[in-house]
Formats: sequence, C-alpha cells, structure tokens
Amino acid sequence: MKGAKIVGWGSGLPKKVVTNFDLEKLFETSDDWIFQRTGIKERRVVDPDLGENAVSLGAEAALKAIESSSKYNDKQINVEDIDLIICATATGDYLFPSTACLIQAKIGAVNATAFDLSAACSGFIFALNSAYNYIKVGQYKNVLVVGVDIMSRFTDWSDRRTAILFGDGAGACLLTQCDDDAFKSFFIKSKGDVECSLNVPNTGGKYPLSQEQITEKQAMVYMDGQAVYQFAVKAVPEALENACAQAGVEPQDIDWFIPHQANMRIIQSAAKRFKIPLEKFICNIDHFGNTSAASIPIAMDEALALGTIKFNPSKRQKLALVGFGAGLTWGASVLEF
Ligand code: UT7
Repeated sequence: MKGAKIVGWGSGLPKKVVTNFDLEKLFETSDDWIFQRTGIKERRVVDPDLGENAVSLGAEAALKAIESSSKYNDKQINVEDIDLIICATATGDYLFPSTACLIQAKIGAVNATAFDLSAACSGFIFALNSAYNYIKVGQYKNVLVVGVDIMSRFTDWSDRRTAILFGDGAGACLLTQCDDDAFKSFFIKSKGDVECSLNVPNTGGKYPLSQEQITEKQAMVYMDGQAVYQFAVKAVPEALENACAQAGVEPQDIDWFIPHQANMRIIQSAAKRFKIPLEKFICNIDHFGNTSAASIPIAMDEALALGTIKFNPSKRQKLALVGFGAGLTWGASVLEF
C-alpha cells in the first residue's frame, strides 16, 4: 500500500463582490444582523458576462494547484502528469457531462480520468477521501481534487433566510503518491435527510418543471436554517473527535483547523467545545461567505498565501479539515502538510 500527500493548493474566485449593504437593497435585512448571525460581510458572485462559471473557476483553481507543486513538492508536477480529477460539486454547469471532464478539457489534462462527486458542502472532504484511496491502492499517482459551487444560480435573491449565506468559488488541491503517508485519518458519514432541511427541491430532474413551479421558485435553495444549525453543531465535533481518535491525536495537538465556512457561530461553538483558541481555526467567511464544496480549499489556499499557515517541508504541520452539508453529510480528515 502506498501513501499520499498534498503538494498543491489553488483557488478561483469571481471578481464581483456582493456586500451585505447590497443585500439591504434586495430585502428587509441589515449588515449588522447578517454579520452578528453568520460572520459574513460580503461574498463573491459569478458574472456570466465575464465568462465566469463552475468550469472556469474550477480550472483556474486546478491550474494554480498544479503550478504550486513547485513550491510544495521536491519536483514540479505538470498537467500531463495528472491521472485523475475528482470534482466535488452540486451546481455544475451541465447536468452532464461532468464538471470534472470539462475542467480536464480546459486545463489540457489529457492523461486524466475525470468524474464528479456529489456530497454538497461536504464534497471536498468526500472527494479527498476518494482521491487518497485511489492513490493508496496504487491505481493513480497524481490526483486533482476540485471543489466548486456556483450557489448563486440556485439562490432566491428575495429570500433573506438563504440569500445572505452563500457565495460562489472554487478551490483545489493536488495529491501525489509518496512513501511517507501524510494522511492520518478520514471520517465521513451520511444520514439521508427525509425532512430535506437543505435542498434544491426541483431542478426538473425527477419531473419537468412547470411554469407554476418556476414562478414558485422551486428550483431554488430551501433551507431550514435552525435545523441545519442544530445538525452542524453536533456533526462538526463528532467528525473532529472521530478523525482525531483514528489518527491517534488529541484535538489540542492539531496545529490548524480548516472548517467548512458555513456560519462563524458554528466554528466558534466547535472551538469552545474543544477549548481550542479560535485563532487556530482558519476563517475567511467574512469575505467569501459559504462557498459550499469550495470553502475548505479556498480557506487553506488563502491561509498559505497570507502566511498564516507557513509551509515547512522539514516540519510538517497537523491539519484537521472538517465539513458538513446537505444529504445530510459530514466528515473530517487529519493530515500533515
Ligand atoms: O453549508 C450549508 C449549511 N448551512 C448552514 O450551515 C446554515 C445553518 N444555519 C444558520 O446559519 C442560521 O440558521 C441562519 C444564519 C441561516 C439564520 O440564523 P438564525 O439565528 O437561525 O435565525 P432564525 O432563522 O431563527 O431567524 C431569527 C429571526 C426571524 O425573525 P422572527 O421570526 O424571530 O421575528 C427571522 O425572520 O431573524 C429573522 N431573519 C432575518 N432578519 C434580518 C431571518 N433572516 C434574516 C435576515 N435579516 N437576513
């Protein structure tokens, strides 16, 4: 059995910034309410006129992740070396082909196999777990994991309960085979949500959308915010506890937590529960909002760019990634980087 390590990070973000003050013009809300309840000040939203979409942002993140292997690996990995692309998304540009296949074409990863994986906001952790297993059994050597979501496509811009939360973006990381395995554990779980507390009820998949359903905005995000919140404050600690236990470390031994950026209060509650200073949690929800499957790699990429997390090949740091989302799905991974 082989091991794997992450040797590249990248992100792709839309240019357009939508602030809480912009939202004040759309519905009854306030910058203060949104910031107090979520920690969000602004988010990015794609502008189709600029050619921004899931594939363009995903490809940008993917190329940056590949390019950064010159910094994080002893040898540069090139796009032709990529043999698998897994894209975590619930909001791809097409129903089919997969966003992964379209990213493959855009970046010229001619030797890669590519497919999408659907686990909503937990998608990045689920895809990372799959990527790791493919390397572990020796089937692939260089695997690109992309998380991308264009939530603005399914946002009801008149619904103050959901429109405040989400933003668009893509993040990616590159895994390569190695002898010294950097992954210490994975914990991923699902619990079919019969109440459907977080969903896009109808995109015309099961039944074609009628004009009435389009008018009633059934192809838009529905979220029972309270129910998802209650789930999240239990799921995050459960995932972290299990991933740490499997890795044989205490949460206090982790250098950096990179949580899914859904709500600052959910992150604060996890920090409080483990008595870990909030400074150890990488948070950028204030300026990107909740970018779903992209939020963890975007947060990691930004932390490296800002120098908050410093890469040191001779002294790897312990990271705990944790996410949760629709499905319901949740998971965490402890790894060294
Ligand atoms: O990755 C996806 C996972 N999703 C999540 O993690 C979401 C988890 N849930 C949440 O983050 C929170 O539930 C929200 C931020 C969505 C909402 O915060 P909350 O503290 O749960 O608010 P609430 O839904 O209980 O609403 C409290 C009050 C209500 O008014 P009344 O009924 O008490 O008079 C709402 O109508 O706040 C009102 N409200 C708002 N007021 C101003 C709801 N949305 C807004 C708004 N601006 N945008």
